[in-house]
This record gives sequence, C-alpha cells and structure tokens, in this order.
Amino acid sequence: MSNILELKNVSFDYFLNGETALRALDDISLTIKKGEYIALIGSNGSGKSTLARLLNAILVPTSGEVWVDGLLTSREEHRWEIRRRVGMVFQNPDNQIVATTVEEDVAFGLENLGIDSSQISRRVTEALERVGLSSFRHHAPHLLSGGQKQRLAIAGIIAMRPRCLVLDEPTAMLDPRGRREVLDTIQRMNRQEGVTVVHITHFMEETLEADRIVTMDRGKIVQNGKPEEIFNGETDLYQLGLEIPVLLRLNRILRSEGLDIPANILNLNDLVNILC
Ligand SMILES: Nc1ncnc2c1ncn2[C@@H]1O[C@H](COP(=O)(O)OP(=O)(O)OP(=O)(O)O)[C@@H](O)[C@H]1O
Ligand SMILES: [Mg+2]
Repeated sequence: MSNILELKNVSFDYFLNGETALRALDDISLTIKKGEYIALIGSNGSGKSTLARLLNAILVPTSGEVWVDGLLTSREEHRWEIRRRVGMVFQNPDNQIVATTVEEDVAFGLENLGIDSSQISRRVTEALERVGLSSFRHHAPHLLSGGQKQRLAIAGIIAMRPRCLVLDEPTAMLDPRGRREVLDTIQRMNRQEGVTVVHITHFMEETLEADRIVTMDRGKIVQNGKPEEIFNGETDLYQLGLEIPVLLRLNRILRSEGLDIPANILNLNDLVNILC
C-alpha cells in the first residue's frame, strides 16, 4: 500500500507577538498509508491540532516537509489541490454550517470548486445518503441535533470526494448518541469508501477500532502502534495525561484475579462472549 501522508522531520513554531517562538511540533516524522484509520491522541497542548492543520496546508512547516499524495504543502501551487484531497472536520459543528438549508450547506463547497449544477445535485444526494441525512435535505441546519450537524459537516466534506479525512475532536461536543452516529459515519467512510482517516480524540474508547494509534507528547510522537500494543505496552499512559479505556482496565483486573482472558480484547462483545 502506498503512502498518502508523509511528514519528514517536521517542526513548527508559532510566533507570539511576531517574535517569541513556541515550538509546537519538534522534528516529527510519520507516514500514513492509503486507507488507514489513524487515531491521534495526546494531552492538551501536545500539538495534535497543529499537526492536523499541517496535513491540509492550513499551516506549513517551519522546517521539514509534509507530502500529501505526492504533493508538497509548502509549494503554493499545490495547496488548492491538497485542500481538495484532505478534508477537515472540526470540533464545533455550529461553526461549520454556512447555509440555510441542509442541501445548500452540502453544495456550498462544490459551488466553490466550480462544479456544474447537475453534478452538484447528484453529489449532494450521495453525500447525504452516506451520512444518513437524506430525509433532512430541505431542513434548516440549525434545527438539527449536534450529532446530525456534525454529520452534515462531514457530508459537506465528503461531497468534495477527498481521499483523506482529518477530524479534530469531531465528537467532543456531542452526547453519546451523537458520538456514536458520527463514529459510525467515519468508520463507514473508511471501511467502505477507502477514505484515509486521521481522527484526533480525547476519548480513548474511540481509538480501539483504529488501525493504528499515534500518541503525541510536547510536540513529539511518543508512540505509534496498534491499539493493543499501545494499551498493553510498557509506556505509562497516565504520565502522558491519558487513560486506558475502561474495557481494558476491566480486562486487566479480571486477568489479575486469575481469569484466563486474552490481553488483546478490544471489543465489549468479545469480552462478554468469553466470560459467558
Ligand atoms: N495560534 C497559536 N498561537 C500561538 N501558540 C499556539 C497557537 N495554537 C496553538 N498554540 C500552542 O501550540 C501548542 C500545541 O497546540 P495544539 O493546539 O496543537 O495542541 P493540541 O494537542 O491540539 O491540544 P488540545 O488537546 O488542547 O486541543 C500549545 O502549546 C499551544 O498553546
Ligand atoms: Mg487541539
């Protein structure tokens, strides 16, 4: 499988008052393959959002290189195409709504791409179907629930047919049901449509179904591996300001009490099946 995203020795400094540099990312190298689902975790201020903004050329590195599908983000002539290929979804769904009906909202980005109207209509239909909002097509976005609004934001992005979705805490403002709806949508895009996903989250449970977890700490990548490796590994996650998911904590306790359960169970149903 080829790489869709590649960071080579990337550092990024924010300049406060134009002078004092704050190093938000420090010599990061990372490759992400086409079709992978990456969960990006780390405590507040560890650099996750900065990394996300580098992936679709909202920011460019202070040093090092970010490659997207063979295009270099620091080359201005590549940026437009990079932003089309890498769609971003942010935390607050209200800030991402731009139109007065659901269908106009999804169409907005397509109109900006200069796509003709019959094609726009087809893509809007398709995108709303994918996120399960077809019956809301003529509704006013501000009347949707939080989870529905966030799925609308995702529809607006996927209508542009990106190859990669970067989601920066997309479920942070949602209730459990809204979170589930959004997670299912993201997973479906990844599994069925082959869209590469970079999902930033503080909810450890949300990382268990990722192909790979990347952990950041103070501007550096400190872990990079499968969920079972990250959560059963040597690194002290609490030290990194992170938690072990409840399911895995429970599994550890049961094992320490002598129950014969595999350590790498990542799914509640699997645990229940073994126990019963
Ligand atoms: N626009 C900015 N100007 C100056 N410093 C910034 C700016 N944005 C972020 N920073 C600083 O860069 C560092 C990394 O911030 P970033 O937002 O990337 O972290 P994060 O991992 O996304 O945190 P959180 O979990 O709180 O969202 C922090 O020290 C932060 O204060
Ligand atoms: Mg952030």
